[in-house]
Order: sequence, then structure tokens, then C-alpha cells
Amino acid sequence: MFERLQKKWKVKGWQFVLIIATFAIGGSATGFIGKKLMPIFPIGPTWLWVIVYILLVTLLWPLAVLLVSIPFGQFPFFCKYIKKIGRRMGIGRSGVRSQKSEESHLSTLTSHIAVFASGAGSNAQKIIDHFRSHPSINVSLIVCNNPSAGVLQIANKEGIPVLLIEKERFIRGDAYIKELEEHTIGFIVLAGFLWKIPAALITMYPGKIINIHPALLPKYGGKGMYGKAVHQAVINAGENESGITIHYVDEVYDHGKTIFQARCPVLSSDTAESLAQRIHKLEHEHYSQVIESLLK
Ligand code: GAR
Repeated sequence: MFERLQKKWKVKGWQFVLIIATFAIGGSATGFIGKKLMPIFPIGPTWLWVIVYILLVTLLWPLAVLLVSIPFGQFPFFCKYIKKIGRRMGIGRSGVRSQKSEESHLSTLTSHIAVFASGAGSNAQKIIDHFRSHPSINVSLIVCNNPSAGVLQIANKEGIPVLLIEKERFIRGDAYIKELEEHTIGFIVLAGFLWKIPAALITMYPGKIINIHPALLPKYGGKGMYGKAVHQAVINAGENESGITIHYVDEVYDHGKTIFQARCPVLSSDTAESLAQRIHKLEHEHYSQVIESLLK
């Protein structure tokens, strides 16, 4: 029984002994003071006396243990302990949690992802599918800079809010941080997003922005290296292997620390289109898994 209590309270050794002593002395003091105070109340029937006594003791007990805990050096433990009991009884802030704070409490338990995409959105679709019924990870926002991007139809079909952004404000302005905060975004996934991520956003989300690149970085990355241009460069260079790179985002294009790579062959008969298809398959297979493992 003592072992179970030690685990439950996350204490051991002398602290445990001092806590038990505080309980014992605080409890006895409560009973003693309660009995001494009872004659103050002129109460007739015994049943009423018992009820008043219980009420008095219930009120006195927290006070007594808190007082006794001070010389024993256990005041912080008992403060937490009494607050916890109060919450269980529905007293205190969490007991009367408003709907708004309930929502924000729930949102701290959920990882809200924003997917930034500028194109067709096949990766976005896979990520949405993967986390659709996930208990604690949710694709909460699609961020897009292109009003005719296919990803917007996906967002519409899936009922996911969209934030359509414009360059000046994103790159040189506030980077839409307020809007991201409004959606309680905690993690950003780039899936075919073409603009460079501004420093303000990187500072706001340190180690929480990742990108997928359709080649084996550090080769074939950088400005202008997007989609088919990447595959054509790989073919032109006579590579017999290509693949995908998932990496953290820093202020340089396709540069941050690599998290994951997967490879596939480049065939002599490949065109940029056929290689793109093979690469897309790899992306769809791995991106969501990598996101999930990072968020765990
Ligand atoms: C993906 O292949 C992704 O790797 C690439 O854009 C494509 C988006 O496809 N990203 C880059 O090239 C970034 N430098 P999707 O819209 O079908 O997901």
C-alpha cells in the first residue's frame, strides 16, 4: 500500500514519512479542534450535531494540514494535494471551467498542424487521410499562396479552413502569425510550398516546420528547384538513383537538418513525369509517418 502511495504522489524516502506524519498530526488536530469548537454551536438532536461536526472538520482539515506541513517542509506538496481534491469536488478554476477554457485545454492536448501547399496537394491529401481519425493530431489549416491551387479544392471537400496568403505580408510583414495562433497551430508541414519561409515564422516555430523535397538533398535543392525541374535535373545529370528528403526548415532553401530520406532508382527510360510519379509514391508512403513520429 505504501509503495502504491509513493508512486501516486511521486515521492519517496523521508519526504514520504514527513507527508504521512503531516496527515496524522493534521488529522488529529482537526478532530481535536473540532470537538473543542462544537460547544459553541447550541445544537439539539445528535444527527444535526454529527452533520455540523463533519462540515466543520471538512473545513478545518485543509487548514490544519497546511499549517502542520510548514514546519515539515511539505507545504508545496499539500498545496497541490488540496487543490487536486478541490478540483475533484468541482471547486476551483478547473471545476467550473468555461467552455472556452475547456476548448483551449483540449487544444493543448491536440497537435494542430498547418499544411502549407501551393500545388495539386496530393501530399496534403495523404496527410489529411492519415490523421483523419487520429486521437491527438489534427490537420487544422491549409495555407496556400495560389488561389487556383488544387489543394484548395481538397481543403473545401475536407472542410478544413484555408488561409490564402499574399507575398508582401508573408515575407516582409507579420508572416500571418496571428492567424496561425488563432488556429492554435503547433506544427507546420510544407507540402509543395514554393515561397521561402521568413525568419519571423522560423523563430516562432523553432524545430516545428518541416519540408519534403523530391530529391536526395543536398543535391538538387535550392531556389527554383521545384517539382519537374528537380526531376529533369536529376535525369540530365545521369543519376541512377533519386529519392525524397524530409528536413527541418531554416532560412535557406532546402537546407535544414535532414530527418529522413528514402531512395528509388532512376531508369534510363525515365522522363521527368515518370520519375515524378515514382517520387510521389515515396512521398505518399513516408511523409505522414514521419510527421506522426515527430509529433509523438
Ligand atoms: C512534391 O513532390 C514535393 O516534394 C515538391 O512539390 C510537390 C508537391 O506535390 N516540393 C518541392 O519541390 C519543394 N522544393 P503535391 O502538390 O502533389 O503534394
